[in-house]
Amino acid sequence: MRIRPVITIDGPSGAGKTTVSRRLAERTGMVRLDTGAMYRACALAARRAGIPWTDAPRLGELAARMDLSFREARGAQGLFLAGEDISDAIRTPEMSLGASEVSAHPAVREALVARQRELGRDGGVVLEGRDTGTVVFPDAEAKFFLDAAAAVRALRRYREHRPGNGPSFEEVLKDVLRPDVQDSTRKHSPLKMADGAIYIDSTTLTVEEVLERMLRRIPGAGS
Ligand code: DC
Repeated sequence: MRIRPVITIDGPSGAGKTTVSRRLAERTGMVRLDTGAMYRACALAARRAGIPWTDAPRLGELAARMDLSFREARGAQGLFLAGEDISDAIRTPEMSLGASEVSAHPAVREALVARQRELGRDGGVVLEGRDTGTVVFPDAEAKFFLDAAAAVRALRRYREHRPGNGPSFEEVLKDVLRPDVQDSTRKHSPLKMADGAIYIDSTTLTVEEVLERMLRRIPGAGS
């Protein structure tokens, strides 16, 4: 029995999961677990170990044994691989692609899902990802599916770059759509809405409005 709730937020990239899960964790005093960062870490660890992103058995082993921990770094939650802060290194377009590739292997998913269940075992946690409500914690106390129109998701990503210093809007749109298709059409744990999940379309909502809708549906959180 969990004393504190588990909350899951799934949805495509750029729907606002990261911002919303951060704010929700702050407001409720819960811990945030970014499951996508774990797939990114696996892609990075594989690249460094010379393991191709297609080598399922070795990737599965790596996902199970890599020395991964979430710890505070520079005032925010950071991800550490064998003691090294990899928070920035996993946020490159190359690692987005790598994460999408390694996350398609069942061996990798099984290993990381087991670690995510262990991390969230006692509750008091907000998980964000693609399968946190369908596979990791189907019995979560509150499950959300956060969505937004593709053009808006791309625009949000585009605005994260400094003007004139990043990719064009068209490139960002392509980068947003490519993993979406891969993640939604893959055989194992494709991105889909969990049974009992609450669908929120954030296309025309502010972060605060999304939060209000979520807080109303979280047992004990009120609004
Ligand atoms: O949310 P993100 O962009 O950091 O996720 C990186 C990749 O990992 C993305 O292609 C989807 C995949 N992923 C997944 O398959 N399952 C999760 N629970 C989280 C992410």
